[in-house]
Parts: sequence; C-alpha cells; structure tokens
Amino acid sequence: MHKNKSNNELESQLDAVSIALKKSIKNLDSYTHVRGESLYVDDVNIRQGTFHAVVFDSPKAHGKIKSVDYSKAEALEGVERIFTYKDIPGKNQIGGIIPDEPLFAEDEVHFWGMPIALIVAETEFIARKARDLIEIEIEELPVITTGKQAKEKGSLITKPRSFVLGDPEKAFKDCEYVFEGETFSNGQEHLYIEAQGAYAEPLENGTIKITSSTQGPTAVQRTTAQVLGVAMHKIEVDVTRLGGGFGGKEDQATPWAVMAALATYHLNQSVKLILNRHDDLRMTGKRHPYESTYKIGLSKDLKILAYEAEFLQNAGAAADLSPAVAERTLFHATNSYYVPNVNVTVASCKTNLPPNTAFRGFGGPQGMFVIESAIAKAAHDIGVTPRAIQEANLLDENDVFSYGQIAKKVEAKNSWESVKSIYNIEAIEREVEEFNNSNSAYKKGMALMPICFGISFTNTPMNHARALVHIYLDGSVGISTAAVEMGQGVNTKMMQIAANVFSVPYEKIKIETTNTTRVANTSPSAASSTADLNGKATLKACNALLKRLKTVAATYLKVTPEQITLKDEFVYIKAKKTQLEWTQLISMAMLERVALTENAHYATPEIHFDKTREKGHPFAYHVYGTAIITTTVDCTRGTYKFDSVKIVHDYGKSMSKGIDLGQVEGALVQGIGWMTMEEIAYNDEGKLLSNALSTYKIPDIFSVPKIVETVPLETKGHELAILKSKAVGEPPLMYGIGAYFAIQNAIKAFNPNYDLKFHAPITPEKVLMGLYEKNNI
Ligand code: MTE
Ligand code: HPA
Ligand code: MOS
Repeated sequence: MHKNKSNNELESQLDAVSIALKKSIKNLDSYTHVRGESLYVDDVNIRQGTFHAVVFDSPKAHGKIKSVDYSKAEALEGVERIFTYKDIPGKNQIGGIIPDEPLFAEDEVHFWGMPIALIVAETEFIARKARDLIEIEIEELPVITTGKQAKEKGSLITKPRSFVLGDPEKAFKDCEYVFEGETFSNGQEHLYIEAQGAYAEPLENGTIKITSSTQGPTAVQRTTAQVLGVAMHKIEVDVTRLGGGFGGKEDQATPWAVMAALATYHLNQSVKLILNRHDDLRMTGKRHPYESTYKIGLSKDLKILAYEAEFLQNAGAAADLSPAVAERTLFHATNSYYVPNVNVTVASCKTNLPPNTAFRGFGGPQGMFVIESAIAKAAHDIGVTPRAIQEANLLDENDVFSYGQIAKKVEAKNSWESVKSIYNIEAIEREVEEFNNSNSAYKKGMALMPICFGISFTNTPMNHARALVHIYLDGSVGISTAAVEMGQGVNTKMMQIAANVFSVPYEKIKIETTNTTRVANTSPSAASSTADLNGKATLKACNALLKRLKTVAATYLKVTPEQITLKDEFVYIKAKKTQLEWTQLISMAMLERVALTENAHYATPEIHFDKTREKGHPFAYHVYGTAIITTTVDCTRGTYKFDSVKIVHDYGKSMSKGIDLGQVEGALVQGIGWMTMEEIAYNDEGKLLSNALSTYKIPDIFSVPKIVETVPLETKGHELAILKSKAVGEPPLMYGIGAYFAIQNAIKAFNPNYDLKFHAPITPEKVLMGLYEKNNI
C-alpha cells in the first residue's frame, strides 16, 4: 500500500495506542475497521475472468413449476451459463438436520424466494438483466403462512417434543390462581451488514477453494462436497471475518457458497456470488415467529406451582435448524424461575415461508417471552406487580430444571437483588408513579427482566473444538481454530489466551483465518460457545508448547522445568530474571529439534442429554443477570422512548471487559428491536412485504435507550468458561424482553381498561390502539 507522510504519522500514533492496549484490550479488529481495511468476501482480489452470479428465485410461495423458459436470458450477451438442479453432479440436497431442502427447486416451489437457478455472467449487472428475462409458469397451490394453519393441516417438520417435570395437572388443582392465554412473537431479520455471499475458485486436480461469509465453514465444506459428489478434501473453505452473522450464517450461508462452487466446478473458472440486500431479505430465513398458549398456576403467596405451554414454531418450508431451535425453547421455557410442575411442548410447523433459522438466543427468547407474559397476566389479574411474582420464584441453588439439570452456582437472586439495590428500585418505582400522577399526555412504564441462559450446544456431540498453534522461528505465533470472527471479538480473546500463556506482547500473535484445511470437522461458531470451546483448545495447545519450552530452558539453565516461568519475553528461574529471551529460547528449541507446533482438542466435560427421556445435564453452565428498563410513552402518538436500562450482568471473570460490554449493549438493543419495532410482514400469499429498510425499522441511534448502564456481577466465574470468563454473545439479548412489558405498563397507566395483549413487537400502532381501546377519554 502506498504510504504518504500523514499515513506514517497515523501509524506511529497507532503504535502508541497499541502499547497502551497491552493493559486494557480493545477488539483487535478496531484498527482495520475504522481504517476501512478489514477484509470481507466482497474485498477478495478476484482472478481475471471471474464470473458473477445472481440467483433466480421463485415468484410464488407454493406451486408446481409448469415451465421455465431461460432462452431469452441465455441469449443475452455476456451470460455464460444458467445452472439448475439438472446440473448437480451429486445430491440436490442441503438440509443440515433433516434432508428436506433442495439447493434448487425441481418441480415444486415451497416459498417465495426459493432458489430455482443460478445465472452466471461476465458481470453482476448482466446476470441481473438476464434474470428479468426468465419466464416462469407456476400452478399455484395453497399457501400456509402461520403455525396455526400448519398445525390444523398436520403440516409439521418433526414430531412435537415435550419437557415434563412433576405433575402439573394435579398441581393446578392446588393453585389459588390459574390463568390461561395466548402470545405471539414475530420473526426478526438478522440484518448483518455484510450480506450473504461467497467466492469460489478452482485450484488444481478438481479442488475448489471457497471464501465464504459463514459461521460454519465445515457445514459449507460438507454440503458443497455432497452437492458436487466429491470428497470433502477437494473443498477448502476459508473465512477471514463476517460483517455480522447473528445466527443467520450458521446454516444459511451454505447455499450461496455451494452455488458458486457448482458453477466453478462446471466452468473451471472462479465465480463470485453476493446477494444484494433485496435478494438477501427475500431469500433467507429469519428468527422464528411463535404462536403460543400458556397456563400458569400460583399459590396464594405467589409461588408458581405449575406451568404449561404449547409453542407453535413457524419453521418455514424446510427444517434448517428449526428442531434444534425448538429444543432450546423448551430448555428456556421457565427462564430463571423454579417451577416444580412443568409441561411444555413445542411443534415445528412447516409453512411456506423461507426456512427460519438460528438467531441470537436460538429459540430461548421466544420461550422466555411466554412465561414473562404469563407472569404479567397473572400479576394484572391478581392485582400485584409482576415484580412480586418474579421475585417469589427466582431459581435457587440445587433447584431442578424441567430437563433434569440441577442448578449450580445460581446467580438469579444475586443479580436480581444487586440490580435492585444498586439502582434503588423503590426510587425508580416512585419516580414512575409520581411522573404518571402529574402527566396526562405522557406515561412512564417500568419492568424488570431476569435472564438465565444455558451455555453449550444443546446437541451434546457438537461441543468440541480444536486449535493449531505454530511458534515460528522468530518467536512470533500463528493460531488457527474453528472460531469465526463475526464482530463478537472472539479473535481478540484467542490472542489474549496465547499472549497470557507465552507472556509475549499481542504484536507477536496472529489469529489466522478460519480454514477447513487447518482445523477440520468443526462446529459452527454459535451457541455463544465459540470462545469457550476454541479458547480451551487454544489454551491446551499453548500450554503443551510452554511445557516443552520450559524443559528446553531448564536443561540449558541446569534447573528443573518446574522452576522455570516466562514473563514479558524473558525466562525466569523462580522469581529471578535470567538473560534468556523468548526469541533465543525458540531458536534453542529449534536446534534441539523440539516441535514448535501443537494441535489440541477440547470437548466440554460433564454434559450429556438423553432425548428419549428428555432429561440430562446439557449445559456446561448458565449465565444470569437482571435488567431494569424504563420507558416514556407519548400518549398522543403511541410512540415511546427508553429512558434507561440498568443491568447487573453475570460475566463471570470477564477477560475482555470492553468487548463483553459491547456484546451486552448490542444484544440488548437487538432484543429491544425484536420486541418493539422490527416488524416482519408477509402477505397471505407468502410474499415478504417488509423487504427494505424503509419498511423494516431497526433501532437507530435515536431509538436506543438514552442511558444504558451495566454493572458486572462479582462472581467467581465458572471453570468450564474460558479463563472463567462466561459466554456473553446471546444472553443479554433477552434483557430486551423487558421493553415489551415496560411499554405495556405505561399503556396501563394511561388506560385502565386496556386488555393485556402479548403480541410482539409492540409497535407504536399497537401502543396507540392500546391507549384508546375501551377508553372514554
Ligand atoms: N456480535 C456481533 N458483533 N456480531 C454477530 O454476528 N452474533 C451473536 C453473538 N454476538 C454476533 C455477535 C451470536 S448469534 C452468537 S451465537 C455469538 O455472538 C457467537 O459468538 P461467540 O460464541 O463467540 O459468543
Ligand atoms: N445453539 C446455537 N446453535 C446451535 C445449537 C444451539 O444450541 N445447536 C445447534 N446449533
Ligand atoms: Mo448464534 S444464534 O448461536 O449463531
């Protein structure tokens, strides 16, 4: 890169910053991000002659394909070829959990946006023009867009599953209060800034290298091999970083990579396929909408004695990850409460929407919204505050979850009591009440939201990872793992681990791209477990290298290895510094022919789950926390602002405070967006109406809470968390659920006749209707 003087000046300033960073670590990507130098798929230097591809997708949600006429498109100058299912040498199948999803439609289409063909041309512009020239005739079939419709027609992805604890039927009879109701939570668009995409290039002997924006490089590799009918070792997948994934690239980055590779396979030329925003919004799945019913039973002293719920998950037209997402809904159905009698059931309903998929929280938030709704309803009808019910039922040490795991190191009450005392809950309640007494055009509402989120893939076999660590001759270090950097800062955490073990500065450590030829057979970066799994593997590999190096140093210094430590690039004998430097030690090890590379494997111990009994110990640990959220509703307009969110969060012993705080704040805002303003709309024909940012509103700087304060809960952390620093990626999203109830409480303050409704998102339109329903003002 050409450097001018001011660039050099900037660099020396950055050096100064990086020295300061050794003390408090910032996301290592922050330099390249702010300078626009971070590499994404679209930044790959493409080869001369690279083709560009565009997907032709179904213009109807359900039907039989009567005919497709590609002739005009094919005749367009610059169009190289159009690929359909007929060009697939292996299997036309990309289903991850259940083989129910073709890459390209054959004779039927099942959702609006379902890929039918890939148009490959000299430029993307030409490919798009060609797409407009394709003529398709579809004989339409009935369209299902909701879970209820699907259930009535018996259209399910898998058999429903239930978690049962105690005897709810019997317990309901002993309850002082029993309430029933229904809830709905809508889907959510991932809206990663970097749209889905991949770049495939032919190497020699039929090998194809794919640069993909995926959370799951192995999923891309395995599925590509299956579709092309080649061995996995012919497919190399490389990931530098993602411009966001949020679960949307756990499984759904795969088809685009496979399509690019399919074209490369046939043309022996590199092919680039990046969806534009419209195509991405239309063709990809989202968070699952849920229609649910609940029944909650309480004792006179507000103990929840029994809870039942049925969750109808709108899975879309194929399984994708839906069964796994459904499972996590059951795991989190009682949030951070102890309920002795539980019966919760989930059904994955097959509809004609794009297959819905992983989204931060993975079904957990949907489950938690329902029990919080049940509590709100019970509180309203009994005439107590929701807080009184929440507080009476928080999990305690050794309480049992409905799935059999015994709660250990529980922080539910600790975080709840901490947030109450640190932020003086009585004062907040008083302030809200006084405001409401003296204002008629604006009303405030407040809610508390406790969270409890299980850490591990609920599918036990997925909980493992590997790391490959090289120490180079000059003492610099290269680390490869399965961790995919998607903005969550996992690379920074990996770097910290190695820097800690070797006691070398961050500059000596490089986190390599995530590549299937270096680290194979990996789980996706998901379930908030990436840092735990890959970090523990990295720690193991680094420690093994350190042990070898200590032996080399001990032999040279004529002491025992136990007496050796490394500190700030020097070898110490006990507390005494020697003249032996890190780089010399590495040279010495080379001369002694000691291996400076290590490959380590880590599998989470202790976890297990028996799906036949629906019992076990699926989670390494749980993450806890509590938020207080306060809102002001404009009762003339139905609009609202969030005054503040005050959180006590269980980070364990955070290893990267800035990164973890960023995760809490980002997840919170994403959760508030889901609950309050992000409204996905499909019409009855299954067409996405909210297909642009003008019709799909996400939180912006004006709609985020004015104040967000987060206090770390002082705990010892957990041994199964990396360096006792607990997973943080998903749990804080669920604080956002409190936003729904805060708004609802403000509506109640204005309109005492308001009938509680649990239909998220609670958009300004719904707020306005709530403010004036059955209201004589
Ligand atoms: N943060 C950013 N900036 N971008 C993302 O895409 N994904 C979230 C969360 N935080 C995401 C993010 C999701 S869905 C998960 S599962 C975790 O990060 C994954 O990373 P982790 O396992 O390292 O926490
Ligand atoms: N969380 C996130 N992603 C997953 C899981 C999970 O529990 N299981 C499979 N993919
Ligand atoms: Mo996150 S939904 O597990 O990618």
